[in-house]
Amino acid sequence: MSLSYSELIKKRRSVYTLGNRFIVPKEEIVHSIEEALQNAPSAFNSQSARVVLLFGDSYQKLWEITAHELRKKVSEEQFQKTKEKLNSFSKGIGSVLFYEDTETITSLQTKFPLYKDQFPIWSEHGSAIVQYAVWLSLTDLGLGANLQHYNPLIDKALQEAFHVPDTWRLIAQMNFGSIEKEPDPKTSLPIDIRFSVFE
Ligand SMILES: Cc1cc2nc3c(=O)[nH]c(=O)nc-3n(C[C@H](O)[C@H](O)[C@H](O)COP(=O)(O)O)c2cc1C
Repeated sequence: MSLSYSELIKKRRSVYTLGNRFIVPKEEIVHSIEEALQNAPSAFNSQSARVVLLFGDSYQKLWEITAHELRKKVSEEQFQKTKEKLNSFSKGIGSVLFYEDTETITSLQTKFPLYKDQFPIWSEHGSAIVQYAVWLSLTDLGLGANLQHYNPLIDKALQEAFHVPDTWRLIAQMNFGSIEKEPDPKTSLPIDIRFSVFE
């Protein structure tokens, strides 16, 4: 698709009506996410972000696991609503699991004790940057995506299902797929209460 940067940041939205039409080859999706991860900045160039990309049966398994874990926590009535939502998440092409490697963070804390308290915060920032980079990359491919947070409820089960090292902490899950319905326009606060320029 290759939008201009200005078009791209406007085009990126939370898309909840996803489909499984491969409008771009799978290899291109994989490559694009790999590049976003590889080129994202991180504190002290720590590169603590880890990504697990799920397609096909593995993608379906993510949402089966999530349903299974949620069922243990909520009432039958609540679960029916939740189930509909989870079903919609599994209608796309895949999911990106964003992790942070806690070993990298612990080792930085030992090496640079002055910043001990900051490293976990910077790790969250680093993950957010990767998430946004991936979101923009998917948008640039013409795909829609939405961001979910079923961690830490699903961490253990995913660890077992996808052989995730137990030092990795799950931060977020991003579903993506073809855009079957454009999101409604969103409201924006007046920019002048959020942004100042001084000369
Ligand atoms: C840090 C963060 C956490 C979010 N968590 C969720 C979430 O758990 N579930 C969800 O549906 N959307 C989540 N979102 C998406 C926001 O609701 C969405 O970005 C916001 O309403 C603006 O809409 P837009 O993405 O279409 O611009 C999250 C976004 C951010 C940046």
